[in-house]
Amino acid sequence: MNTSVIEAIERQKTTNLYDASKSIPDDQVRELVRLATFSPTAFHLQNWRFIAVRSPEAKARLRAVAADQPKVTEAAVTFIVVGELAVADVMADRLAGSVAAGFMPVEMVPGWEAAAKSLYFGKPQIQRDEAIRSATFGASGLIRAAQAMGLGTTPMIGFDPVGVSREFSLSDNEVPALLVAVGYPTEANWPQKPRRPISDVLAFA
Ligand SMILES: Cc1cc2nc3c(=O)[nH]c(=O)nc-3n(C[C@H](O)[C@H](O)[C@H](O)COP(=O)(O)O)c2cc1C
Repeated sequence: MNTSVIEAIERQKTTNLYDASKSIPDDQVRELVRLATFSPTAFHLQNWRFIAVRSPEAKARLRAVAADQPKVTEAAVTFIVVGELAVADVMADRLAGSVAAGFMPVEMVPGWEAAAKSLYFGKPQIQRDEAIRSATFGASGLIRAAQAMGLGTTPMIGFDPVGVSREFSLSDNEVPALLVAVGYPTEANWPQKPRRPISDVLAFA
Protein backbone atom coordinates (compact mmCIF):
# COMPACT_ATOMS: atom_id res chain seq x y z
CA MET A 1 0.00 0.00 0.00
CA ASN A 2 1.41 3.38 -1.00
CA THR A 3 0.32 5.48 1.94
CA SER A 4 1.50 8.76 0.41
CA VAL A 5 -0.89 8.28 -2.55
CA ILE A 6 -3.73 7.39 -0.19
CA GLU A 7 -2.99 10.37 2.03
CA ALA A 8 -3.03 12.64 -1.03
CA ILE A 9 -6.43 11.24 -2.07
CA GLU A 10 -7.78 11.74 1.45
CA ARG A 11 -6.58 15.36 1.50
CA GLN A 12 -8.57 16.31 -1.66
CA LYS A 13 -10.06 19.77 -1.21
CA THR A 14 -11.11 22.41 -3.68
CA THR A 15 -9.72 25.92 -3.22
CA ASN A 16 -12.12 28.84 -3.29
CA LEU A 17 -9.81 31.71 -2.31
CA TYR A 18 -6.34 32.31 -3.77
CA ASP A 19 -3.46 34.60 -2.88
CA ALA A 20 -3.43 36.75 -6.03
CA SER A 21 0.10 38.03 -5.30
CA LYS A 22 1.74 34.63 -5.92
CA SER A 23 2.66 33.34 -9.37
CA ILE A 24 3.90 30.03 -10.78
CA PRO A 25 6.94 29.94 -13.11
CA ASP A 26 6.72 28.59 -16.67
CA ASP A 27 8.75 25.49 -15.82
CA GLN A 28 6.31 24.53 -13.09
CA VAL A 29 3.37 25.00 -15.49
CA ARG A 30 5.16 22.69 -17.94
CA GLU A 31 5.80 20.14 -15.20
CA LEU A 32 2.13 20.18 -14.13
CA VAL A 33 1.05 19.44 -17.70
CA ARG A 34 3.76 16.81 -18.16
CA LEU A 35 2.45 15.00 -15.08
CA ALA A 36 -1.18 15.42 -16.21
CA THR A 37 -0.38 13.66 -19.49
CA PHE A 38 0.39 10.42 -17.64
CA SER A 39 -3.40 10.11 -17.20
CA PRO A 40 -4.96 7.33 -19.29
CA THR A 41 -7.06 7.85 -22.45
CA ALA A 42 -9.04 5.41 -24.61
CA PHE A 43 -6.75 3.80 -27.24
CA HIS A 44 -4.00 6.08 -25.87
CA LEU A 45 -5.58 8.83 -27.97
CA GLN A 46 -4.21 11.60 -25.73
CA ASN A 47 -6.95 13.75 -27.23
CA TRP A 48 -6.42 16.77 -25.01
CA ARG A 49 -4.77 20.15 -24.84
CA PHE A 50 -4.06 22.42 -21.87
CA ILE A 51 -4.18 26.19 -22.31
CA ALA A 52 -2.42 27.91 -19.39
CA VAL A 53 -4.17 31.26 -18.96
CA ARG A 54 -1.74 33.46 -17.02
CA SER A 55 -1.46 37.00 -18.36
CA PRO A 56 -3.77 39.58 -16.71
CA GLU A 57 -5.33 40.29 -20.12
CA ALA A 58 -6.08 36.64 -20.90
CA LYS A 59 -7.33 35.98 -17.36
CA ALA A 60 -9.77 38.92 -17.63
CA ARG A 61 -10.98 37.58 -20.99
CA LEU A 62 -11.51 34.13 -19.49
CA ARG A 63 -13.26 35.48 -16.36
CA ALA A 64 -15.71 37.37 -18.59
CA VAL A 65 -16.89 34.04 -20.08
CA ALA A 66 -16.57 32.11 -16.79
CA ALA A 67 -19.49 33.55 -14.80
CA ASP A 68 -17.18 36.30 -13.47
CA GLN A 69 -15.62 33.82 -11.02
CA PRO A 70 -12.88 35.72 -9.11
CA LYS A 71 -10.63 32.64 -8.85
CA VAL A 72 -10.03 32.80 -12.61
CA THR A 73 -8.04 36.01 -12.15
CA GLU A 74 -6.80 35.41 -8.57
CA ALA A 75 -5.27 31.96 -9.06
CA ALA A 76 -1.74 31.96 -10.47
CA VAL A 77 -2.93 30.12 -13.58
CA THR A 78 -6.23 28.80 -14.87
CA PHE A 79 -5.99 25.94 -17.33
CA ILE A 80 -8.58 25.44 -20.04
CA VAL A 81 -8.59 21.66 -20.34
CA VAL A 82 -9.62 20.96 -23.92
CA GLY A 83 -10.82 17.61 -25.22
CA GLU A 84 -10.42 16.72 -28.90
CA LEU A 85 -13.35 14.88 -30.55
CA ALA A 86 -12.25 11.23 -30.75
CA VAL A 87 -11.42 9.96 -34.26
CA ALA A 88 -9.48 6.95 -35.53
CA ASP A 89 -7.40 8.94 -38.06
CA VAL A 90 -4.96 10.16 -35.42
CA MET A 91 -4.25 6.67 -34.08
CA ALA A 92 -1.05 5.90 -36.02
CA ASP A 93 0.44 9.18 -34.87
CA ARG A 94 -0.59 8.72 -31.23
CA LEU A 95 0.74 5.14 -31.13
CA ALA A 96 3.98 5.93 -32.97
CA GLY A 97 5.91 6.34 -29.71
CA SER A 98 4.85 2.90 -28.45
CA VAL A 99 5.82 1.32 -31.77
CA ALA A 100 9.18 3.16 -31.79
CA ALA A 101 9.83 2.04 -28.19
CA GLY A 102 9.63 -1.53 -29.44
CA PHE A 103 6.89 -3.03 -27.28
CA MET A 104 3.93 -2.44 -29.60
CA PRO A 105 4.15 -4.45 -32.83
CA VAL A 106 3.42 -2.15 -35.79
CA GLU A 107 0.97 -4.78 -37.11
CA MET A 108 -1.30 -4.05 -34.13
CA VAL A 109 -1.93 -0.45 -35.14
CA PRO A 110 -4.52 -1.13 -37.92
CA GLY A 111 -6.51 -3.27 -35.47
CA TRP A 112 -6.67 -0.42 -32.94
CA GLU A 113 -7.60 1.98 -35.78
CA ALA A 114 -10.44 -0.30 -36.91
CA ALA A 115 -11.75 -0.64 -33.35
CA ALA A 116 -11.67 3.13 -32.84
CA LYS A 117 -13.37 3.72 -36.20
CA SER A 118 -16.22 1.37 -35.36
CA LEU A 119 -16.64 3.08 -31.99
CA TYR A 120 -16.45 6.72 -33.09
CA PHE A 121 -17.06 7.12 -36.85
CA GLY A 122 -20.30 8.97 -37.57
CA LYS A 123 -21.18 9.04 -33.86
CA PRO A 124 -20.82 12.67 -32.71
CA GLN A 125 -22.22 12.08 -29.23
CA ILE A 126 -19.72 9.28 -28.51
CA GLN A 127 -16.85 11.34 -30.02
CA ARG A 128 -17.79 14.16 -27.67
CA ASP A 129 -18.22 11.87 -24.67
CA GLU A 130 -14.67 10.65 -25.25
CA ALA A 131 -13.36 14.22 -25.53
CA ILE A 132 -14.94 15.08 -22.18
CA ARG A 133 -13.76 11.81 -20.60
CA SER A 134 -10.13 12.24 -21.70
CA ALA A 135 -10.02 15.89 -20.66
CA THR A 136 -11.53 15.01 -17.29
CA PHE A 137 -8.87 12.37 -16.65
CA GLY A 138 -6.26 14.94 -17.68
CA ALA A 139 -7.76 17.53 -15.34
CA SER A 140 -7.75 14.99 -12.52
CA GLY A 141 -4.06 14.25 -13.10
CA LEU A 142 -3.34 17.96 -13.15
CA ILE A 143 -5.17 18.41 -9.83
CA ARG A 144 -3.21 15.58 -8.18
CA ALA A 145 0.11 16.93 -9.51
CA ALA A 146 -0.67 20.42 -8.24
CA GLN A 147 -1.67 19.02 -4.87
CA ALA A 148 1.65 17.15 -4.65
CA MET A 149 3.42 20.49 -5.24
CA GLY A 150 1.51 22.09 -2.34
CA LEU A 151 -0.77 24.08 -4.64
CA GLY A 152 -4.53 24.54 -4.42
CA THR A 153 -6.86 23.76 -7.32
CA THR A 154 -10.41 24.43 -8.49
CA PRO A 155 -12.09 22.39 -11.20
CA MET A 156 -14.80 24.52 -12.84
CA ILE A 157 -17.72 24.00 -15.17
CA GLY A 158 -19.08 27.47 -14.49
CA PHE A 159 -18.22 28.89 -17.95
CA ASP A 160 -19.78 29.51 -21.34
CA PRO A 161 -18.24 26.92 -23.70
CA VAL A 162 -19.06 28.95 -26.82
CA GLY A 163 -17.43 32.04 -25.31
CA VAL A 164 -14.33 30.11 -24.20
CA SER A 165 -13.99 28.51 -27.65
CA ARG A 166 -14.27 31.90 -29.32
CA GLU A 167 -11.93 33.80 -26.99
CA PHE A 168 -9.20 31.14 -27.05
CA SER A 169 -9.57 30.11 -30.72
CA LEU A 170 -10.47 26.47 -30.18
CA SER A 171 -10.86 24.39 -33.35
CA ASP A 172 -14.18 22.91 -34.46
CA ASN A 173 -12.97 19.50 -33.26
CA GLU A 174 -12.18 20.76 -29.74
CA VAL A 175 -14.42 21.02 -26.67
CA PRO A 176 -13.55 23.09 -23.57
CA ALA A 177 -14.29 20.40 -20.98
CA LEU A 178 -13.18 22.00 -17.73
CA LEU A 179 -11.32 24.94 -16.30
CA VAL A 180 -8.81 24.16 -13.56
CA ALA A 181 -7.52 27.07 -11.48
CA VAL A 182 -4.16 26.43 -9.77
CA GLY A 183 -2.43 28.63 -7.23
CA TYR A 184 -1.69 29.37 -3.59
CA PRO A 185 -4.72 29.05 -1.24
CA THR A 186 -5.33 31.66 1.46
CA GLU A 187 -5.94 30.70 5.10
CA ALA A 188 -9.64 31.58 4.75
CA ASN A 189 -10.63 28.49 2.73
CA TRP A 190 -13.17 26.02 4.11
CA PRO A 191 -11.98 22.67 5.48
CA GLN A 192 -12.66 19.51 3.52
CA LYS A 193 -16.35 18.70 3.06
CA PRO A 194 -17.63 15.42 4.55
CA ARG A 195 -18.51 12.69 2.04
CA ARG A 196 -21.68 10.62 1.60
CA PRO A 197 -21.51 7.29 3.46
CA ILE A 198 -19.94 4.41 1.55
CA SER A 199 -23.16 2.40 1.99
CA ASP A 200 -24.97 5.00 -0.18
CA VAL A 201 -22.48 4.93 -3.03
CA LEU A 202 -21.16 1.35 -3.17
CA ALA A 203 -23.02 -1.62 -4.58
CA PHE A 204 -21.59 -5.12 -4.82
CA ALA A 205 -22.82 -7.18 -7.75
C1 LIG B 1 -16.94 19.07 -12.66
C2 LIG B 1 -16.79 20.08 -11.55
C3 LIG B 1 -17.18 21.37 -11.75
C4 LIG B 1 -17.04 22.34 -10.76
N1 LIG B 1 -17.34 23.64 -11.04
C5 LIG B 1 -17.05 24.60 -10.13
C6 LIG B 1 -17.19 25.97 -10.45
O1 LIG B 1 -17.55 26.36 -11.56
N2 LIG B 1 -16.88 26.89 -9.49
C7 LIG B 1 -16.43 26.50 -8.25
O2 LIG B 1 -16.16 27.39 -7.42
N3 LIG B 1 -16.27 25.21 -7.93
C8 LIG B 1 -16.55 24.24 -8.83
N4 LIG B 1 -16.34 22.93 -8.53
C9 LIG B 1 -15.85 22.56 -7.20
C10 LIG B 1 -16.89 21.80 -6.39
O3 LIG B 1 -17.85 22.70 -5.88
C11 LIG B 1 -16.17 21.02 -5.26
O4 LIG B 1 -15.30 20.08 -5.83
C12 LIG B 1 -17.17 20.33 -4.37
O5 LIG B 1 -17.92 21.27 -3.63
C13 LIG B 1 -16.48 19.36 -3.40
O6 LIG B 1 -15.54 20.05 -2.61
P1 LIG B 1 -14.08 19.49 -2.37
O7 LIG B 1 -13.47 19.33 -3.73
O8 LIG B 1 -13.42 20.55 -1.55
O9 LIG B 1 -14.20 18.22 -1.65
C14 LIG B 1 -16.51 21.96 -9.50
C15 LIG B 1 -16.11 20.63 -9.30
C16 LIG B 1 -16.23 19.70 -10.31
C17 LIG B 1 -15.75 18.30 -10.08
